[in-house]
Amino acid sequence: MTTTTTAHTNIALIKYWGKKDPQLHLPYTDSLSLTLDGYSTTTTTQFLPGRQDQVQVNGHPASPAFFQRVVNFLDLVRQVNHSQKGILVQTTNQVPTAAGLASSASGFAALAGSLNRLFQMNLTPTQLSCLARRGSGSASRSIFGGFVRWQHGTGDFDSYALPIDEHPQLPLTLLSVVFNGQAKKVSSTQGMEQAVQTSPFYPQWPQIVERDLDEMLLAIQKQDIAEIGQLAESNCLAMHALNWTARPFFTYFTAETWQLINLLPIWRQRGVLVYATVDAGPNVKLITNQETLPVVRKLVQSKFPQAQLTTLYPGPGLT
Ligand code: PMV
Repeated sequence: MTTTTTAHTNIALIKYWGKKDPQLHLPYTDSLSLTLDGYSTTTTTQFLPGRQDQVQVNGHPASPAFFQRVVNFLDLVRQVNHSQKGILVQTTNQVPTAAGLASSASGFAALAGSLNRLFQMNLTPTQLSCLARRGSGSASRSIFGGFVRWQHGTGDFDSYALPIDEHPQLPLTLLSVVFNGQAKKVSSTQGMEQAVQTSPFYPQWPQIVERDLDEMLLAIQKQDIAEIGQLAESNCLAMHALNWTARPFFTYFTAETWQLINLLPIWRQRGVLVYATVDAGPNVKLITNQETLPVVRKLVQSKFPQAQLTTLYPGPGLT
């Protein structure tokens, strides 16, 4: 038997940054994301005759580091199911070439979904979200489509994501701006740990998130894209400020990331609806609406002719 599942990546509008329990991936705070239609991962799993696992990514054997991460996840699922069978994992990322956006969010959500079928576990979406979280925190949110909130919870069984609006009707549009497709130097796990342990501002982070999240929920309800963008941008900059104030400091931003962020207030002054959010890497996702997208595209293209641009819309949950 083989089972195939597809999951889409998500962009956090209110970021998850800091693990209370690094092993279980329990976060200090809630977070809120939008699942996207553009980047997805399709994963097929099947049992192998022996005990050895095999992991293929886009038709090639996985790197040793990724193989180990997947095997750890398989071990977790095998343990729950009292199994010792080897598993073949074949995963394909539908990501524009060299975008460097092959996200662990869509990857572990798709793997959790496929294993749920392979082991006939019949997990509910909430339980699936908990399982995906064990692979990568942000994967908990990719189980659902549209706007999703991950509630931080108190333990392994109540730290899961829930949909807020699975099929948003607002004309929210994102433009992914990829300067650099290379893998990040500081992993999100490492970055979070350093920020939590050393940034003097980390104690304020939970309060910032709580306030931003409440306001974001209202903005979504009002379908106010400017407000959504403004909140996402300021929450993102607060997250990155934790890294700049870590000791020693680090940053995911490159000169181009900064250059683009610095242009936004100028463009907004000219009446262009555009805000930005950035995850644990140098690339930027611009938040705008359908009507303004062509203007934003042109502005970005004129300043960054080399950048790879992809338009993204709200996307679906696990299929
Ligand atoms: O799920 P992880 O460990 O890859 O961490 C994700 C961290 C951010 O993308 C920066 C924020 C988020 O909420 O997705």
